Amino acid sequence: MAELIQLRDVTAHFGSRAALRGVTLDCAAGAVTAIIGPSGSGKSTLLRCINRLHEITPGARTSGTVRIGDIDVHAQNTSVVTLRRSIGMVFQRPTPFPTMSVFDNVASGLRAAQPRLRRNALAEQVERALRRAGLWNEVVDRLDGSALALSGGQQQRLCLARALAVNPQVLLLDEPTASLDPLGSQRIEELLYELRGEVTIVIVTHNMQQAARVSDVTAFLLDGELVEVAPTQRLFTTPRDPRTEAYVTGRFG
Ligand SMILES: Nc1ncnc2c1ncn2[C@@H]1O[C@H](COP(=O)(O)OP(=O)(O)OP(=O)(O)O)[C@@H](O)[C@H]1O
Ligand SMILES: [Mg+2]
Repeated sequence: MAELIQLRDVTAHFGSRAALRGVTLDCAAGAVTAIIGPSGSGKSTLLRCINRLHEITPGARTSGTVRIGDIDVHAQNTSVVTLRRSIGMVFQRPTPFPTMSVFDNVASGLRAAQPRLRRNALAEQVERALRRAGLWNEVVDRLDGSALALSGGQQQRLCLARALAVNPQVLLLDEPTASLDPLGSQRIEELLYELRGEVTIVIVTHNMQQAARVSDVTAFLLDGELVEVAPTQRLFTTPRDPRTEAYVTGRFG
């Protein structure tokens, strides 16, 4: 498979402190790549370098290169707006727009990206995104209701629908099921499985069973360094680095 996301020697600082050191990683187009590692190892920072969220923290900087296809993410002439439109992100806690309806949460990105879209076409695309996120049947009769009236799991799928609505090439998921119950988590995992091949997904997770279930490739981060990256099954069954082995067998620290 062709590599869509390429990180080359990426280092990320908060002030004088390096949160990520010299990370080189490729993510194949249409594949699911899981990032695992202990708390503070730099997993979220890695995701935030891919969509340039890292740089909004005062004092934060990056070096090295990140490419998405032909785009040099950190190049001066790369538009952050365009970039973020092709990269969806879902966070640990659901972040629906609190003052908007279910419909408007999904429609907002579409309206910004395609201001001339007619009402019917907009409604069709909103429905399509909600269906892709496995939420349509649950919200079809409350599209005008508040997004905050949905359950946590539904809100998270709404955030997924909002991200998918603009047809991103890349989806970044930072512990997307951490605040969900087992059933809610399972639904998200099933959706990731269905999106495989259509969207290139990078998922941070603390749950190693989840990484094993949903990902094609797993990368293990420790203290900001990429210790090992391998096909998921290989990484969990026969890790090559003793630190990876200690982590995946739960003997860490
Ligand atoms: N806004 C910030 N300002 C300063 N340091 C930060 C900031 N955010 C993160 N860090 C530091 O950068 C390092 C990496 O943090 P990061 O959030 O990427 O870790 P993580 O692997 O996602 O951890 P967790 O599993 O707890 O979410 C940590 O040492 C953290 O303390
Ligand atoms: Mg994190």
